[in-house]
Amino acid sequence: MNRFWNYWIIVLTTVNVVAMLWLLYMTARKRPGDQAPGEATTGHTWDGDLSEYNNPLPRWWLWGFYFSIAFAVVYLALYPGLGNFAGRLGWTQESAWATDVRHASRESTARLAHFDSMELDELRENTEAMRTARNLFAANCAACHGTDAHGAKGFPNLTDHDWLHGGTAAAITTTLQQGRQGVMPAWGSILGAEGVEQVANYVLSLSGQTVSATLANAGADKFAQTCAACHGVEGRGNMALGSPNLTDNIWLYGGTVETIKETVAKGRTNRMPAHLALLGPTRIKLLTAYVLNLSQADHTPRPNDHDSTEETHHDAARSGQSSH
Ligand code: HEC
Ligand code: HEC
Repeated sequence: MNRFWNYWIIVLTTVNVVAMLWLLYMTARKRPGDQAPGEATTGHTWDGDLSEYNNPLPRWWLWGFYFSIAFAVVYLALYPGLGNFAGRLGWTQESAWATDVRHASRESTARLAHFDSMELDELRENTEAMRTARNLFAANCAACHGTDAHGAKGFPNLTDHDWLHGGTAAAITTTLQQGRQGVMPAWGSILGAEGVEQVANYVLSLSGQTVSATLANAGADKFAQTCAACHGVEGRGNMALGSPNLTDNIWLYGGTVETIKETVAKGRTNRMPAHLALLGPTRIKLLTAYVLNLSQADHTPRPNDHDSTEETHHDAARSGQSSH
């Protein structure tokens, strides 16, 4: 608030309070010559005989007014209200909010503390832990991945065994803590419309769909040159880069030739936000256990969940080979 509005508000408020006091005092004061209550009228008469008493305010009513004026003065001294004056208590909306949040988060962290010492496998078996995790998922993840975790276009399904970044406990923990980024470059200007069409047909052929053999054959070479570095020679993807497996007929953006052409021509940029600062390590652990259960209700990892070791990933990334 600049100086003018600051003083404007201070003066207006003070003048109002003082004027109220003066008004009360003037109306409550007995003047010489006042008639007794119940006799005095304002002197106005309507319809010939309808007149108006001029009785003083009842005492209790008057004290109510005095009390509210005193309240206003004390309030304005303690809390913000008079222009830029912060009030003697130093109260702010932000600090009140921050205190509430601190209390709530300390309480819920304390409630979760007994999960700290538990192993992931224990948590996965623990009904209470998984109920808490389900609530955490609903509050923090469902907006993007869906309440049933089946995902949507651009948001991966977490219940299948197809992983962009890896389905091991370690990979999921990293995903949740640090977030992930998926960047598929745009190839439209390099390949041209025809090249994009060919390569898209080849991509579809990888998951056994019927496509034009001529187009797919022409696309195979281009794929080896431009795409294999990230998606692997066989198109099975590379979890170290977050590049999806193109052979399993599971699609992040859609498996029609049109969608694939759009992906290839324009590229895609996708982001899973980091959650460590927001949720803290205990909640991340609970959610990791929950995500593992989503895809392995029976606790048995499938081949795709064990995407192979980190080392082969780095080798694959370097040599442009698929990690499978
Ligand atoms: C703002 C949207 C958003 C929110 C909120 C979000 N995610 Fe994600 N998540 C994504 C996107 C987008 C990706 C895919 C990133 C990519 O394309 O590489 C992803 C990827 C993932 C993956 C990796 C999947 C794979 O195939 O490797 C996991 C696991 C995951 N999210 C779990 C969670 C959990 C648990 C939460 C809640 C704490 C959460 N996400 C919150 C958008 C979100
Ligand atoms: C620099 C690495 C890189 C290169 C090169 C690359 N891609 Fe990708 N591609 C990715 C990543 C990463 C994603 C996932 C994007 C995301 O998470 O949103 C992706 C996604 C895709 C998808 C979407 C899959 C789905 O499930 O919807 C298709 C299709 C695809 N790429 C095809 C290609 C083709 C064809 C080429 C060659 C012309 C190619 N990519 C080259 C990294 C790459």
